[in-house]
Amino acid sequence: MPKHPPEPFRIKMVEPIRLPSPAEREAALKRAGYNVFGLRSDEVFVDLLTDSGTGAMSQHQWAAIMEGDESYAGARSFFQLAEAIHEITGFRFFVPTHQGRAAEGILAAIMLKPGQYVPSNMHFDTTEANILARGGRPVSLVVDEAFDTSLDAPFKGNLDVEKLRAFIEKIGPENIPFGMITVTNNSGGGQPVSMANIRAVSEVYHEYGIPFFIDACRFAENAWFIKQREPGYADKTPLEIAQEMFSYADGATMSAKKDAIVNIGGFLAMNDEDVYRRAANALILREGFPTYGGLAGRDLGAMAVGLHEALQEDYLAYRIGQVRYLNERLKGLGVPVLEPAGGHAVYIDAKRALPHIPQAQFPGQAFAVELYRAGAVRGVEIGSVMFAHPDPDTGEMVYPQLELVRLAIPRRMYTQSHLDWVAESAAEVMALGENVPGYRFTYAPELLRHFTARFEPVK
Ligand code: F0G
Repeated sequence: MPKHPPEPFRIKMVEPIRLPSPAEREAALKRAGYNVFGLRSDEVFVDLLTDSGTGAMSQHQWAAIMEGDESYAGARSFFQLAEAIHEITGFRFFVPTHQGRAAEGILAAIMLKPGQYVPSNMHFDTTEANILARGGRPVSLVVDEAFDTSLDAPFKGNLDVEKLRAFIEKIGPENIPFGMITVTNNSGGGQPVSMANIRAVSEVYHEYGIPFFIDACRFAENAWFIKQREPGYADKTPLEIAQEMFSYADGATMSAKKDAIVNIGGFLAMNDEDVYRRAANALILREGFPTYGGLAGRDLGAMAVGLHEALQEDYLAYRIGQVRYLNERLKGLGVPVLEPAGGHAVYIDAKRALPHIPQAQFPGQAFAVELYRAGAVRGVEIGSVMFAHPDPDTGEMVYPQLELVRLAIPRRMYTQSHLDWVAESAAEVMALGENVPGYRFTYAPELLRHFTARFEPVK
């Protein structure tokens, strides 16, 4: 049996959850059109839909909430946050935003012209959508290893430096207003990026005069992987590693709902004063005055505390260890998973789990439905429901390489026995074998269809 790390905290407030009966689950699935996004949270027992904004705040964060300064301009809580961001990232300027996509939206609004390209290892879907919404073109240049689900390699989130150089030469640096890298790479299995890769990517961007922004949502988890896996970093603290990561960049977008362990919040940081001025003006238009940026003062305080808590070694050892525990448990029960475990989530390989279901009948969706039916566990399909699309030239369906079910672990929320429940529920799905049906759409919008689509089982 794999070992679950002991939690470096104890629990002093509880939120009741309830296991709905099999009949209730069946009725909920029917009502939701077999789409887990349509379930009410009260119908879910263990909710692994996302690690975003779902974590448990500490007593220190709740204390910061109580001490929040709600002044419109120049609030104490803002300066508390400024100090934390400055210490960890070293960037000279920042604006708070209500979440990550608002930071991405402002960055795209002030930097990007129609027809321009923004490379990254892989963009998260909101980043991609913000680039597309400004007429830009998101480009994914992750290393090929990222697509081999059974390959156990340390840094499968790396950006392929040779591909990057070739891409810049082909497109021309004048058509690339900024470049990015996502740490950890959520869209590619929560896999980390090495320090050597961040440094090399930074050198290439800067050689061509391209500003470099880090999508830093899970920067602390990435720092922990560098400490564990990259030679020369074992004796450095996660804070020192994070500082070095940010030192190679010109700015960062952040969803504080991840590695600042708050329920809402984010920021956009940068070194360039002119970029800051333009960001502040865009912020005033969309989010709020630059010392609160669409948040309450108390949210800024909780974010400041959370940024430091996310870098504590005992927390990170527990956090990453817990995700690895679930991966090992699933493997031990014969459930095929993506290797190695990511920082914030495990990914079930639905192609291997349900080989009798063709991609056209959504094996990932089928697994997600069955997992809810078995244990009222909610994960999310990341496969053909999300990404399959007709080829614009031939009209033929193009299917993604991977059919995954992501089980994202909220921070400091669930215990070992919850994860055991999840693993055993997944094993029950495996035991059903070819009795698990595929699905077809009864309704699907054209864009971002996974959120609102409805399905029926294929008889
Ligand atoms: N970048 C990455 C890498 C993300 O994972 C997310 C959100 C965002 C940006 C956007 O941040 O939600 O605060 O606007 N990811 C969540 C998820 C939604 O479930 O993975 P946001």
